[in-house]
Amino acid sequence: MISQQTQWHRKHLLGIEGLSREEITLMLETAASLREVNRREIKKVPTLRGKTVINIFFENSTRTRTSFELAGKRMSADVINISPSTSSAAKGESLFDTMKNLQAMNPDVVVIRHAQSGAPWFLARHLDCAIVNAGDGRHEHPTQALLDMLTIDDNLPRLGRESFDGLKVAICGDVMHSRVARSNVLGLTTLGAEVRLVGPPTLMPPAVEEAFPAKVFHRMEEGLEGVQVVMMLRLQRERMEGAFIPSVREYCTFWGLTRDRLRRAAPEAIVMHPGPMNRGVEISSEVADDVERSVILDQVANGVAVRMAVLYRLCGGPKG
Ligand code: CP
Repeated sequence: MISQQTQWHRKHLLGIEGLSREEITLMLETAASLREVNRREIKKVPTLRGKTVINIFFENSTRTRTSFELAGKRMSADVINISPSTSSAAKGESLFDTMKNLQAMNPDVVVIRHAQSGAPWFLARHLDCAIVNAGDGRHEHPTQALLDMLTIDDNLPRLGRESFDGLKVAICGDVMHSRVARSNVLGLTTLGAEVRLVGPPTLMPPAVEEAFPAKVFHRMEEGLEGVQVVMMLRLQRERMEGAFIPSVREYCTFWGLTRDRLRRAAPEAIVMHPGPMNRGVEISSEVADDVERSVILDQVANGVAVRMAVLYRLCGGPKG
């Protein structure tokens, strides 16, 4: 379980890469302590009163954008959502000019999702406010990894563990196009878990074993053997420019998580998915909706708490 305490020193949350075990733990502890606000009848605290949060999502989102908005509003921040399709970005205004103009309105935090890997780092170099990466290309999705780690932490007792040390986690499917996989590998291994990447060679990044501190498996049955956490990834067809799989039907046959395949994992294993799910492709409905094994909606609920923690640490909480 989470136990350590430290201070938060960073101005931005750009990625999981470079975060220490203590920093990740602090963010998870903060989320765990803030989440009771989400269970109250009146879901509001004054913690971020007078602070301004701008959400700007250049890619579609349901979970991340909604939960950042709820997180800010439940802590009394003023939250502005900007949709590029109805902003002057649609008239050709550059990202740089868009953001410099938003900066002129003096926000405290900008939360950005962008198709270009590195876009949040670019903004952090040029803007004065705090920047949160809500997903950049195939690169990182740090708040997703934090909410995934919080969900796993909640389930450690049922997995018979006191910490992440030695916990076996299989991240399965389209690793190549997944920022969720990258952030989770970095975060989970920092906390001490043993991570496996499981998927077809065509959906693994180049030199995957050198690039990631994880063991790679190209057969689903082998990769799942004995793991306690099964994290399925969405097949990201919108990021595929070539033929990475013979067909969706064949992908499902060899790589879809079915109840039968899940029997390879530990009997108590939990099933995760960052969403949105392709039901019947990477995961069967029977597994996704299995209330004993699936923690997919718990991940979504924890997303609000984690985003409250991030906003609090970046613009409300004590700095070291
Ligand atoms: N997991 C995730 O990022 O979902 P959204 O794309 O709906 O935000």
